[in-house]
Amino acid sequence: MTDAKPDRSAWLKGGNSKCQAKPAATGKPWRFVLLGAPGVGKGTQAELLTARLGACHLSTGDIFRAAKQLDERERTPALTAALEYMRRGELVPDSTVIDIVRERRECLKCESGFLLDGFPRTVAQADALEVLLKEEGLRLDAVLNYELPIELIVKRLSGRRTCPGCKAVYHIENRPPKKEGVCDNCGGELYHREDDRPESIRVRMEAYWKSTAPLTDFYNRRGLLLTIPANGTPEEIFNRTMEALHARS
Ligand code: AP5
Repeated sequence: MTDAKPDRSAWLKGGNSKCQAKPAATGKPWRFVLLGAPGVGKGTQAELLTARLGACHLSTGDIFRAAKQLDERERTPALTAALEYMRRGELVPDSTVIDIVRERRECLKCESGFLLDGFPRTVAQADALEVLLKEEGLRLDAVLNYELPIELIVKRLSGRRTCPGCKAVYHIENRPPKKEGVCDNCGGELYHREDDRPESIRVRMEAYWKSTAPLTDFYNRRGLLLTIPANGTPEEIFNRTMEALHARS
């Protein structure tokens, strides 16, 4: 499950970057939005969904984390602005995030399909996505909304460890690497995300309840919402997701 992810250069770097290898498409390009509180397991499910359905994992959080390692000349003005907001501990405004996604609109057209994770995060971003997809003649297949009690979310976040190189995600208890602190895939030194500290978790949860939770109504009204309990093992949640998708089609 922590196999190296398919190349996502076009998404992570933007500009003229091209992906060397896309996820293996499965005939139909699936197009999903993943919703759910921070740490509910969206990224973990995205790995499993990419492996099964071939859709590419497009995470805005991964763009921001990757941007810190980019040369300044490789960053677009929108990306530079976003990093500045984050450095000051402020939320990245909708207009900036929308610009960043718009700069990557080719990824929405990817023949492998996509799993948008972290975008949209507000109703304004959801409106912008709707416009972008319409302009490209594309439609979402579903919006997968993962739900989990807060105490389990905090446990998942406080034990999360991430590889800076290949972006594989581990958990010190639930999904430990073979060797403590070292990535199984690429040997990278695992780190504890800055925003996984208790005080940051509280701020992120507040932002989620205020700005992102209303998106469930937004997508429910459009007949796209599938709500999935996110308790149990990653494989159990994945099986629930596939059942919900089959029941709908
Ligand atoms: P982002 O990276 O999108 O963070 P997030 O939404 O908070 O989501 P996470 O990556 O924290 O969690 P996840 O649900 O993917 O959980 P995971 O699978 O890793 O964004 C980061 C920041 O960027 C934001 O806070 C914001 O500031 C900014 N940002 C991003 N997009 C933006 C936007 N559109 N607008 C404005 N700002 C934006 O799992 C968590 C842990 O649990 C892992 O250790 C995992 O191994 C473990 N785990 C997973 N599933 C299970 C399971 N079933 N059982 C046990 N353990 C499990």
